[in-house]
Amino acid sequence: MSMEDWLAKSKHGEDFVRQGYCVVPIQGEQRASLDRARALLVAGLRAALPGGDGLGDEDYLNRFHKFSNAATLNDVRVRIHRELGGSPEYRKLVFNCVKNYLFDLVGNEVVMQRNVNPVTHLPRDKTQLLYLHTDAWSGCSPYEVILWMPLVDVYDTKSMYLCKRDPNNKHMRDLKAGAQVDSAVELLKKIRPDIAPVKMKYGEALLFSPTLMHGAEENLTDETRFILNVRFKSLFSPYGTKALGETFLPVNYLPATEIGLSYESEFGIVDGG
Ligand SMILES: [Fe+2]
Repeated sequence: MSMEDWLAKSKHGEDFVRQGYCVVPIQGEQRASLDRARALLVAGLRAALPGGDGLGDEDYLNRFHKFSNAATLNDVRVRIHRELGGSPEYRKLVFNCVKNYLFDLVGNEVVMQRNVNPVTHLPRDKTQLLYLHTDAWSGCSPYEVILWMPLVDVYDTKSMYLCKRDPNNKHMRDLKAGAQVDSAVELLKKIRPDIAPVKMKYGEALLFSPTLMHGAEENLTDETRFILNVRFKSLFSPYGTKALGETFLPVNYLPATEIGLSYESEFGIVDGG
């Protein structure tokens, strides 16, 4: 099947190729996994910090800054990242939310980053700004797909911004040709006409390419942003500097690959034929 025929069958695949990202609905069984992932995070936060009694999960997260601050948040962040983000059950839950889309984007033999990263951005907290960058600039494989899944509605500065594929690649070509840009701030000024915040409801997720420039500015809304992010790729596509076994672990693979992987780990890699 040609790429054109294949893309005609898949709205998210077509969006991903055209824009470098797609926003997908998480429905049915996948939605149950998302609700569970959010409930576990909220339970972990409630156990670590007093406050927010009587609030439902959505209100609890949106109003988190009312009973937290940047100082107390740091300890909680480290603990949640270690206890929740690194657990195999939590990784599986997050994978389940988007696996049907990933199968279309990267195939059904998938590796997933070792840790799911819960990210919190309190209103007016300037310590958590994410400067303009692409993940590929820091060694991520351009074959990856990044999941950025909000646990509350996100919009304006409560969300992140990104640059679509065509303008992104135009700016990248300018940089490659030697355009003089001395800082991330200056680069942001240059590409600002081509970036926009991603607006999503809870129950939607962003899947985007690590080749896209993106970042997050000061959250000027009066709600806290909570998202989960984690990277996926095909088990058999190039890894960049983030290797299988170190950064990534297999999360879904087929019988012949099961034999191949266990053979390699026990008897070593086979060269040639
Ligand atoms: Fe990034």
